Amino acid sequence: MPNITRRDALKSGLLAGAAVLAPGSARAMTDGRPDDAECLMPPAAVPAEFSGRERLRLDADWRFNLGPEVDGTHGYAGGGSFEKQGNLFAPSSRQFDAGTWQHVNLPHDWAVDLPFVADPRLSETGFKPLHREYPETCTAWYRKVFALPATDAGRRLSIEFDGVFRDCTVVLNGHLLGRNLSGYAPFAFDITDYATVGGENVLVLRVDATEHEGWFYEGAGIYRHVWLVKTAPVHVPQWGTYVTADVKGRAATLRIATEIANDAPTAVQCRVVSTVLDATGRPVARADSVAPRLAPWERTEVKQQAQLADAALWSPDTPVLYTLVTTLEVAGAVVERYETPFGVRSIRFDANEGFFLNGTHVEIKGTCNHQDHAGVGAALPDRLQYFRVGRLKEMGCNAYRTSHNPPTPELLDACDALGMMVVDETRMFGSNDEALSQLERMMRRDRNRPSVIAWSIANEEPEQGTERGLRVGTTMARMVRRLDPTRPITAAMDQAFGDGLTKTIDIQGFNYRAEKTDAFHKLRPDLPTWGTETGSTVSTRGIYANDAVRGYLSAYDKNAPWWASTAEAWYTIFNARKWIAGGFIWTGFDYRGEPTPYKWPCINSHFGVIDTCGFPKDLFYYYQAWWTEKPVLHLFPHWNWTGMEGRDVEVWCFGNVDKVELFLNGKSLGARDLVRPSHVMWQVPYAPGKLEARGSRAGKEVLVQVRETTGPAARIVLSADRATIGADGEDVSVITATVVDAAGRMVPEANHEITFSVTGSGRLLGVGNGDPSSHESDRGPKRRAFNGLCAAIVQASKVPGALRVSAASSQLTAGEIELTCKAADVRPSA
Ligand code: GAL
Repeated sequence: MPNITRRDALKSGLLAGAAVLAPGSARAMTDGRPDDAECLMPPAAVPAEFSGRERLRLDADWRFNLGPEVDGTHGYAGGGSFEKQGNLFAPSSRQFDAGTWQHVNLPHDWAVDLPFVADPRLSETGFKPLHREYPETCTAWYRKVFALPATDAGRRLSIEFDGVFRDCTVVLNGHLLGRNLSGYAPFAFDITDYATVGGENVLVLRVDATEHEGWFYEGAGIYRHVWLVKTAPVHVPQWGTYVTADVKGRAATLRIATEIANDAPTAVQCRVVSTVLDATGRPVARADSVAPRLAPWERTEVKQQAQLADAALWSPDTPVLYTLVTTLEVAGAVVERYETPFGVRSIRFDANEGFFLNGTHVEIKGTCNHQDHAGVGAALPDRLQYFRVGRLKEMGCNAYRTSHNPPTPELLDACDALGMMVVDETRMFGSNDEALSQLERMMRRDRNRPSVIAWSIANEEPEQGTERGLRVGTTMARMVRRLDPTRPITAAMDQAFGDGLTKTIDIQGFNYRAEKTDAFHKLRPDLPTWGTETGSTVSTRGIYANDAVRGYLSAYDKNAPWWASTAEAWYTIFNARKWIAGGFIWTGFDYRGEPTPYKWPCINSHFGVIDTCGFPKDLFYYYQAWWTEKPVLHLFPHWNWTGMEGRDVEVWCFGNVDKVELFLNGKSLGARDLVRPSHVMWQVPYAPGKLEARGSRAGKEVLVQVRETTGPAARIVLSADRATIGADGEDVSVITATVVDAAGRMVPEANHEITFSVTGSGRLLGVGNGDPSSHESDRGPKRRAFNGLCAAIVQASKVPGALRVSAASSQLTAGEIELTCKAADVRPSA
């Protein structure tokens, strides 16, 4: 392993009639109808045509201006200051001319479009000019004009931001709505008082990414969705439902808490009906109550219970979701309809036996991941989350640690829907208002999700082992247990195991340091344990020798930083200790920033088992072998070693067969036993031709893998992750371009420059190739193949039809593929 220095010291039913009301909750309905005498709110206060909430995308048609200044000022031109309210920032004026500003749609990450700069201070950002040193490129302005119809009069209006990186000042019609510091926690503003109903509204954000929250690429700007929400005055506030399930066998008792806000000057009594729909949309349980009378501007919470006699339990293999439909009725009229997807499952961690899901032992086969992807940076179209989670599942992965921050909700949607357990991690460790608020927002947003099995309150905090750390952690833990008593708390620690935070958490997280787990288990035999960061082989896809100049690392399982270990070293320790619940590899995907061990020209990390585009590295098959039941045999490296004739090439196989025999050009090079959790290896004097591995179980051949010396690169073959996508203006397909020889075999060293063009019902969103040292633009249309492969992400328009992608290169026959964009619902937008 090359000399790797540590980054810094700090990193150290409806069952008819099944509804039961909980004691102390709102009183039971006798005849299923509210007492009319108690409906104090005049029906006129609720617009007649309104029967529920609207949630509109506020993603389209923004204007964007990079830099701290606007019109030569910092936005305060023409008195645009806090002196008198209603005049904040020059761009807030309806007359402001944003004609020169760039037209963007959200999600938008401006860091993707910044050039790479070879400044050693920028390795954390992946050499994008952010942070204090680059004031011109770390502040920006966003402006969006939207109309509110006159029919919105009398509604409550709010804007919800899923996440903005970071420190943004949000202004509507010249009025300050508020400021949000966190680049990851969601936030919202009630805009009812400041909105112009029956006219245009100007929304302006000043976003400042000068300070960073992580030591990795974090993106910059409004990189998640923004929503305009309209409700009746009587409504469920954001994240105002909380449903938990007590599971006994297949029977589940649902406990439902519903917050109700009466944002109106009139007292009201409303009826709360909670209907549980199964995955097919069929009602399977219902609870019906009258909420206590709400005084003007008062809030309350209603608690209900419902039973599911034969619940479909959520698990990674059976990711069944239910929907809780909450309706509020005032004087017989529905004024609110709020949906909460949830799942039914039980979790238990045992200090000696590990983790149990629905009463069955399940090994945590996890990965840690940051949030960026090739071509798009931190601004992922929703569908890409499903692509990524799908890739991880293919590897056998069943758990995901959102290191080190609250994720975008769509990642969790993908985890809920596809079956991936989640450790949901807050970014700021602290007991100050800001840190607690970030944690609370994450928890209130995510606590209905079946995928979330634990809350993480810290990662390698400098105070993790101190008394102060314990005080802070205890305050956080108190809040976590109040907001959600159903899930355990963990902290990812890299030292002081047993001290500090250990004393307040429910599961001890080990970042690496697997050698310390035995002593810890002796010290705290009562505390469950897992590896919050494990393994961590650094490797580059398709590379078989370290190359410090180009910044590449061999793809054998050989190189790991001093604080980490190779995959096999970690898994060998884990494999022998069943009291460890499992672990989270650092990392599933490569991510931008934190290039390790090499710096420039490297701009991304090599920790991934999968590269930034989603192409598996060899190590993917190591995990797949030991994490899945299906037979696996993976032979590497490739067999194109011109110039190496007669010299030894190291040949490895990952797999879960019990014996592998290797052949070169038909001649056996011997058979080797493949023992869990290891690999087999041969030194093979190179001769071009055919390398073949035959894997057997109990003497019976079950798998054969071949690597052949290819001919010269001849053409490009395109394949699509999904050949049919929705014409909703958002859906994407990930296209793989493979450079092949005349016989159709991938040429493993091909690095031709490929030019993508997209015609028909879509556009090219971004490109990538997984090369950790590529400084090419993420936007394309040109990208070099890297070791035979490159990728393009294409996005559907709203017009159904064919989407044609072609990939051309001067010495190769072009590749073409046609996708179908089929008619799909377009999400409503403001
Ligand atoms: C850990 C840290 C991760 C990442 C990793 C690299 O200590 O928690 O965020 O920096 O090291 O090895």
